[in-house]
Amino acid sequence: MKNIPSDFQEYLAIYKQSVEQPELFWETIANDFVWRKKWDKVLTWNFSEPSVKWFEGAKFNITENCLDRHLIDKADQAAIIWEPNNPNDAHKTYTYQSLYTQVCLFANVLKNRGVVKGDRVCIYMPMVPELVIAVLACARIGAIHSVIFGGFSAQSIADRIQDAGAKIVVTADGGYRGTKDIPLKFVIDDALVQCPSIEKVIVLNRTNTPVSMIKDRDFWWHEEMEMAEEMGLTTCDPELMDAEDMLFILYTSGSTGKPKGVVHTCGGYMVYTAYTFNNVMQYKPGEKFFCTADIGWITGHSYIIYGPLANGAISMMFEGVPNFPDPGRMWDIVDKHEIDILYTAPTAIRSLMAAGNQWLDGKDLSSLKKLGSVGEPINEEAWNWYNEKIGKGKCPIVDTWWQTETGGMMMSPIAGVTPVKPGYAMFPLPGVQVLLVDEKGEEIHGNGVKGNLCIKFPWPGMLRTTYGDHERCRQTYFSTYPNLYFTGDGCLRDEDGYYRITGRVDDVLNVSGHRIGTAEVENAINMHTGVVESAIVGYPHEIKGQGIYAYVICHSTHFDEDLMRQDILQTVSRIIGAVAKPDKVQFVSGLPKTRSGKIMRRILRKIAEGDNTNLGDTSTLLDPSIVDEIVKGKY
Ligand code: PRX
Repeated sequence: MKNIPSDFQEYLAIYKQSVEQPELFWETIANDFVWRKKWDKVLTWNFSEPSVKWFEGAKFNITENCLDRHLIDKADQAAIIWEPNNPNDAHKTYTYQSLYTQVCLFANVLKNRGVVKGDRVCIYMPMVPELVIAVLACARIGAIHSVIFGGFSAQSIADRIQDAGAKIVVTADGGYRGTKDIPLKFVIDDALVQCPSIEKVIVLNRTNTPVSMIKDRDFWWHEEMEMAEEMGLTTCDPELMDAEDMLFILYTSGSTGKPKGVVHTCGGYMVYTAYTFNNVMQYKPGEKFFCTADIGWITGHSYIIYGPLANGAISMMFEGVPNFPDPGRMWDIVDKHEIDILYTAPTAIRSLMAAGNQWLDGKDLSSLKKLGSVGEPINEEAWNWYNEKIGKGKCPIVDTWWQTETGGMMMSPIAGVTPVKPGYAMFPLPGVQVLLVDEKGEEIHGNGVKGNLCIKFPWPGMLRTTYGDHERCRQTYFSTYPNLYFTGDGCLRDEDGYYRITGRVDDVLNVSGHRIGTAEVENAINMHTGVVESAIVGYPHEIKGQGIYAYVICHSTHFDEDLMRQDILQTVSRIIGAVAKPDKVQFVSGLPKTRSGKIMRRILRKIAEGDNTNLGDTSTLLDPSIVDEIVKGKY
């Protein structure tokens, strides 16, 4: 691939060119892909609508780039290596040839069941290879996939299916995660009561859990695949897509109550994920890349599936969790499969570090060459442990900052090429034009400064819209500061000009690397009949990065706090999913509000952090005495 620097000076030169001639820069990279027809124009854009189009007029299919083109020289090379939840079960390897055949078969299954280009397909599956197959099969026929993380509740699934108007669901009877069996089909059945748009459900048999199959609606994956095979449907002509056709929708939380469907398109997303993967990881042919994310989140989309496969890489996927059957599991996987590059989240690093170094005993980690971190700020202690104990001081660590909306990595060291500093995303990647602004939107120049992180020029992987509501996209990302994309993150540019993300500046939490909107959790809690009002804030959590702290006002003052707490947690699990359950619930008789009724979250955050001494000016509050009550933890 072009424009991949191999030393710092080269990075500086390539970066400079990417800013001075962005179209030429991206076109040079895009030329290395398989297009049926090249673009008429590299880029047209304005951030006021917003309207961004990359490689307009180009015709192609992303799966030809992820599969077909590798059949020439990599047919027998592994594409996906899958490690099951239970270490005693055999792992599976899909070569590019076998993955291609499975994708074609399943693409034909979808077609047989009436899916056509532009239809939305909801995928709610465990971390099994069939999930990758389902995703790529959608892309093959031009259907738009919407993958929903297996931890979301029936209500969350229903909201997402309704928003996308999905026609078909691909799921499994159940899924294994550590010691748990997750009843996926049962949850889907619950969701589908509210989803008349769904015509068919395809169910993979993963756990042999008895499930109810509804006649003419529900079909078994293996029977459908057998049928396709008997019909000889082992190839499937790729649907010709325009570069700007939708590839997928992925729902993510924001500062308002309802998650939004971030839309990525085929051409730009492919070029961007492939380039950033190759560049940041300095990927060399034959290296085994292990991204521990779940495909239900953007990291799994971009760096288990599309980025690696577009590069003909070997992508490792893991069904289970890092601490099952014990906290040595990740290191067993690295050892067993001789992983070259490990890409994981600070939460996982912190929890494995906390489990103790004895879990590293006897594990051979010498295959590791490069390490990555993603999803949340990494603290220095975790960074040092990762560096010393896992990388043995010889593996560059890339702390990659990016978002669901950016499609791929935006700021990060380039492994072994650019300098690193613990906890720093360091520099923008080539093609990424960042700036810091103050509250008024004025650019903050110089070094040793903090501000809100914005981006001033389009990059190919950026979101194009929020599904079904373009105005929401404009308002959320492009209206705070005119003509800039606002990330929602605060950022420091230190004395050396190195960038460090300081965390969200909006009402979004990052819990174990999962994005959770405070308003979303509040809405869920407020659905409980016993609750009058609630306020959610984040607080520092040793393992999760941030924990969720709920202040709740109840109708009655006479109730069993423990029972009520349990009930509230269950309500949140039912409405959103277990990922959003508060870590702490404090019952209060009121909330600190201004005279105009705005909750002073700053005060609640301080109290949740245990810092009661410096609560700032409380005189503007409607009822300042409420603060003392909350601090005392009693009404
Ligand atoms: O606050 C930033 C944080 O995660 C947010 C994006 O979350 P999501 O869309 O779920 O995507 C996560 C995976 C890319 C960002 O706004 N974040 C992500 N990576 C980092 C980070 N914070 C600090 N350092 C990072 N490397």
